[in-house]
Amino acid sequence: MSLNDRQRLAPEELKSHRYLGPDDLRSFGHRSRQKQAGFGTDEFRGKPVIGILNTWNDLISCHAHFRQRAEDIKRGIWQAGGFPVEIPVMGLSETFMKPTSMYYRNFLAMEAEEVLRTYPIDAAVLMSGCDKTTPALLMGALSANVPSIVMPGGPMNRTSWHGEQLASGTDVWRFWAERGAGRLSCEAWCQLEDHIAASPGHCMTMGTASTMTALAEVMGMTLAGASSLPATHSGHARMASATGRAAVELAWRNIRPSEIMTRAAFENAITTLMAIGGSTNAIVHLMAMAGRAQVPVALEDFDRISQTTPVLANLRPTGKYVMADFFDAGGLNALLNEIQDLLHLDAETVELTPLRNALQDATIWNDDVIRRRANPVCQTGSLAVLRGNLAPDGCVIKPAAAEANLLQHRGPAVVFRNYPDLKARIDDPSLKLTKDHVIVLQSAGPLGAPGIPEWGMLPIPKYLLQQGVRDMVRISDARMSGTSYGACVLHVAPESYVGGPLAFVQDGDMITLDVAGRKLTLEVSDEEMAKRRASWVAPRASFSRGYGKLYLDETTQANEGCDFRFLHADGSQDPPPSIY
Ligand code: FES
Repeated sequence: MSLNDRQRLAPEELKSHRYLGPDDLRSFGHRSRQKQAGFGTDEFRGKPVIGILNTWNDLISCHAHFRQRAEDIKRGIWQAGGFPVEIPVMGLSETFMKPTSMYYRNFLAMEAEEVLRTYPIDAAVLMSGCDKTTPALLMGALSANVPSIVMPGGPMNRTSWHGEQLASGTDVWRFWAERGAGRLSCEAWCQLEDHIAASPGHCMTMGTASTMTALAEVMGMTLAGASSLPATHSGHARMASATGRAAVELAWRNIRPSEIMTRAAFENAITTLMAIGGSTNAIVHLMAMAGRAQVPVALEDFDRISQTTPVLANLRPTGKYVMADFFDAGGLNALLNEIQDLLHLDAETVELTPLRNALQDATIWNDDVIRRRANPVCQTGSLAVLRGNLAPDGCVIKPAAAEANLLQHRGPAVVFRNYPDLKARIDDPSLKLTKDHVIVLQSAGPLGAPGIPEWGMLPIPKYLLQQGVRDMVRISDARMSGTSYGACVLHVAPESYVGGPLAFVQDGDMITLDVAGRKLTLEVSDEEMAKRRASWVAPRASFSRGYGKLYLDETTQANEGCDFRFLHADGSQDPPPSIY
């Protein structure tokens, strides 16, 4: 039976009816408080209550349009006969949160789960955009398993400076390197601030935000075409309203995220991740989401699919264009149309139709932005998973965004104990680094940093930048921004903080990176490694209370998604919250 065949619930079967319907003391209280808020009985009685989880705040500028979009969503909910309730939840600001927004992804996921569980919410609209907000809200929705639909915030406008098109994030790194090389003045660098982020919306490259909203779409959790719409396009407001209407239908049919985010949906997401040349961060987020969905997904699934999927999106940081160009060229569905044979087209979506339907009228209007199969950006290998004695539980590299000559490389390590050590010494000429050195950063992983920050695009020494060096092999247990690039080996697991082999690398050790062979090798004997391990002193835990303590006690390694261990347990037999 397809989801569209599902019978509608009677009003008395809605979860919210238990709060607002019966003639009893508790329901009297609930109804009277709705009236306190200014709503008459006819406005809410017998209607699905749709929670709008709004991740707006003044410090998450990517969501600057979300207050208006919440009104657009409400309009749609009212039109479809639902009752909207807007609920602010933690906005994860990629730019402002320290040590990193990733540290709080699980916090928002827990908040979303409990909001959906405790309130009389029959379905939810998840307002996401900036990097971690999409995976966090989906993780929460999966755990609560309340009908949900994502309203993607949309990328910001394209923008230019001195006649050159800019890309938020990616060009910050690029111009910072130019400044380090002495080729960009301080004044010019300051001028960039006025231009680099020119409208509401998330980063306009195929960074983590664009990647995760695209994956939400291909997994069936948004309306067709929603993720490619620029934030300021009038169609974005129309999409928000339509999302509200769709949420009402999801509530009546009681279509749960677990019925949409199936193994087929996850495979579609991984295939799409490769075809769009998406962010390495998506691997960590998809592993966490799969854990919540109780869907088995392994790192090897990413590598297997990577080896048979071409990169077709010619978008920065891998390619040339930005998200507004992608939208103009036909958007995600046009790209998916080109790889139909690699997708599970029967996978169903929140529109209660198979993915196939979304692709029917999709057309590529510019085949330099969205490449044809015969002319891909890369034939295969957007992302690669490596293993070896330096990363027994795996690590990740994005070959499509690295200098090709570095994908097979052997060089001596230069080791930095932590991020402050890196900042203090990287430009020290006495280190005498060459372009052949392998820069290694320790203590930057899920627990060591903590929060597995986006430090993985380790800086290249200024004196090498001045010599024209723009890429080197760099290895860490950190992540890197989806807008970053380079031969950066990331997510090394186990991380150095817990005594992974990365902790025992020393200056001068030879390291071999072999992307084709999927190998990362530290050329140190087992005996020598055992000696180093025996003299290793485990670092002191950085938190003894509060959220930090919970985080340190429960967070898994990168290859498992950095989620909280206890949230991957099967809670399907746990009782629903009682309202009495
Ligand atoms: Fe929000 Fe890049 S800072 S998506």
